[in-house]
Order: sequence, then structure tokens, then C-alpha cells
Amino acid sequence: MKRRPLIAGNWKMNGLLRQLTELQMIAEAAGEIGEGRDLLICPPATILSASRGILGQKVAIGGQDCHAAPSGAHTGDLSAEMLADVGARYVIVGHSERRADHDEDDAAVRAKAEAAWRAGLVAIVCIGESEAQREAGETLDVLGAQVAGSVPDGATGANLVLAYEPVWAIGTGRTAAVEDIADAHGFLRRTLVERLGEERGAAVRILYGGSVKPGNAAELLAIDDVDGALVGGASLKADDFIAICRATPVG
Ligand code: 13P
Repeated sequence: MKRRPLIAGNWKMNGLLRQLTELQMIAEAAGEIGEGRDLLICPPATILSASRGILGQKVAIGGQDCHAAPSGAHTGDLSAEMLADVGARYVIVGHSERRADHDEDDAAVRAKAEAAWRAGLVAIVCIGESEAQREAGETLDVLGAQVAGSVPDGATGANLVLAYEPVWAIGTGRTAAVEDIADAHGFLRRTLVERLGEERGAAVRILYGGSVKPGNAAELLAIDDVDGALVGGASLKADDFIAICRATPVG
């Protein structure tokens, strides 16, 4: 089955109003790089609204996290409904930095994904093994358990994107070997098909993330069942993000 690639930028805790010029450049290139691809930028919440205005219709915006509840006494948190209210179409949930910094477990991530759906957003559920788990040969077991625990029932190609990000590859300049990525993505595809059925399991996009750069994007994005990238550091520079998009095969 053909899946439309998704190139998503995760700005993490980076981005001030003056960096909106980078988004301006991405918006200007969007007609070309968005041909056959879905484009997404997840800036910090403080500039979501301004980003929406700059990026227009060709580049979606998304949140980096959401609370499971629609509203309430949760100082400092944001609900999925609030993200949808400012024009977000996606929200990242369960990023390894949130799992580590905020003790989010699979059940919490699953509740956030359900919250995303309640608000009409696509949930980008992140999973990935630590270096110790990889060295112990536990990678596929870890990924299987994370999918089982973090992905809610009712997932479809329209409401779920899975992002495989080996924790040790994030922000390190190291990427997983091509054959290891192929193994992981193949395993994840089979897991999704088993869980969701042939049609739905085949429709869910599986992104790779972790030190995706212009120089390695073509190789990484050509791997079977790699349906796009979740890009951290390189998404902060328009030139790099645009180069990664161009390196992503379409159709
Ligand atoms: P880097 O591309 O900076 O390694 O970050 C990847 C990531 O965590 C995206 O969510």
C-alpha cells in the first residue's frame, strides 16, 4: 500500500518569535517540497499561533505534548483541544524526552493519544529503545511492549502516526544502521497489522527519528516501511529541513 510520506519537524524547547523567519522560508518552498509529501512543524506552544499564520495551508502545525484531560486545574499544561483551537492538526505524544523528564509511562502516553483523537488531532506516538536495551538484544521486545501499551484501540492510518526513535540516536549524530532500521520498521509494520488488521495496519505511517540530517536523509528514507522522518535539530534550519524533504522519495 502506498503511504504519503510525512516529514515532521520537532522544535522541542527551541524557537523564539525572531526565528519565525525560518518558517517563512519553509512556507515559501512548500509548494515544491510538499508535492507528494505531508509537511509538519511542531514549534513550542508559545509560537504555535504565529507559526500557523506564517505556514498557511501547505505545512501543518502540531503540538509536542498534550494533557489527557480536555481542561481543568493543571497549571502549565495544555490540552489537545487547546492545540486544535490554534489550528494544530497533529500532536506528538510519548517522546522519549517526555518519558524520561516527566516519567510518562505507556499508559499515560495512551491516554494522551486518546485525548488527541477526542480533539480531532492525529497522534504521533513515539517509541524507541535505550542503548542498554539495544545492547542487551531487547530492541524488538521493547518496541512491541511500547506499541501494545501506548497505542490505543481504534488506531487507523488517519489518526495515528508511529515514530520510531532509538533513544541513543536522538541529538547524538549517531543513527541506527540501515539493516537495524529495516528490522525495526518491518517488525512494527507486522505488529500494527496483527493488532489493527491488514488494511489499517498497512495504512499507518511509521517515521524514523534520531539525527536525521540532509546528508543521511536519502539513505534513511529509502528504507522499506520508513514513511517519513521526525526531525529534531535539523528542523530548526529551513535549509536543512527543505533538503531533508527533497531527499524523501515520493510515491
Ligand atoms: P534529533 O534530530 O535532534 O536527533 O532529534 C530527533 C527527535 O527527537 C525528534 O523528535
